[in-house]
Formats: sequence, C-alpha cells, structure tokens
Amino acid sequence: MKKRDFIVIAIGLSVLLVLWLAPPETTHHMPKNADHQKFYDIVQAEGMKKGRKSAEKFCQECHNADQVPFPEEHPGKFRCLFCHKLDF
Ligand code: HEC
Ligand code: HEC
Repeated sequence: MKKRDFIVIAIGLSVLLVLWLAPPETTHHMPKNADHQKFYDIVQAEGMKKGRKSAEKFCQECHNADQVPFPEEHPGKFRCLFCHKLDF
C-alpha cells in the first residue's frame, strides 16, 4: 500500500469514531400509527426535503393546547420533523 492509502484509511476511521462517539439521539421519533401515517405517505411521495415541509403544516391540527398538548418547555413549534425523525 502507498502512504496515501494509509492516510485515506486513517481519515475514514476517524470519521467513524466521531459518529460512534456522538451522543445517542433521544428526541422521540414521529410515531408510525394511524394518526401519523398520512405524513409518512406525504414524505414518501414528495421526498424528504419537500415532504417534511408539507407534512409539518398539519401537525398543529392535533398538537395544540386543546388536543395533544406539547410538553412544558417544548423547544419549537415549527419544523417539527427536523427534530422528530421519521421511522421508515
Ligand atoms: C390526527 C391528529 C394528529 C396529527 C395531525 C399529528 N399527530 Fe402527533 N400525535 C397524535 C397523538 C394522539 C399522539 C399521542 C399523544 C400521546 O399520547 O402522547 C401523538 C404523538 C406524537 C409524538 C410523540 C411520540 C412519542 O413517542 O411520545 C410526536 C413526536 C408526534 N406526535 C409528532 C407529530 C408530527 C411531527 C406531526 C406532523 C407531521 C404530527 N404529530 C401530527 C396525534 C396527531
Ligand atoms: C428544536 C427541536 C424540536 C422541534 C422543532 C419540535 N420538537 Fe417536539 N420535542 C422536542 C424535544 C427535545 C422534546 C422532548 C423530548 C421528547 O419527548 O422527545 C419534544 C417533545 C415532543 C412531544 C412529546 C413527546 C413525548 O413523548 O412526550 C411531542 C408530541 C412533540 N414534541 C411534537 C412536536 C410537534 C408537533 C412539533 C412541530 C409543531 C415539534 N414537536 C417541534 C424537540 C423539538
């Protein structure tokens, strides 16, 4: 092997190490159930980037103070699917 190959391998290993050391993701994913299935369908149909934006318009139809309230100190009321990942 050439010296360059070792460098490439070393960079690859360090990327893996950083990913492996990253803290576990704890924010709850969007459930995959009847209430949320249509949003999975939207994302599937429109793709991750556009679909998530389209789907997020509907979240607060249920997720509001009167129906399914947010936990106290909930961080943001926009871009829901940026933090709450999907379980495909
Ligand atoms: C038709 C009503 C409805 C809509 C629309 C809706 N949800 Fe929900 N969602 C619920 C209900 C009901 C629960 C369960 C509440 C509970 O018991 O904690 C829930 C729970 C959740 C949870 C918590 C999951 C967990 O593990 O505790 C997340 C995250 C969530 N929804 C995200 C979303 C996002 C993001 C959207 C928009 C893309 C959305 N929801 C749209 C009804 C809805
Ligand atoms: C900046 C990141 C962020 C954004 C944006 C965000 N959330 Fe959250 N959400 C959290 C965190 C962190 C928690 C608390 C940890 C947890 O329970 O997942 C939480 C908790 C929740 C819960 C309660 C989960 C449970 O089981 O207790 C629901 C429901 C929820 N969010 C729905 C939404 C909806 C709907 C939107 C968009 C209107 C949204 N979130 C936007 C980070 C975010």
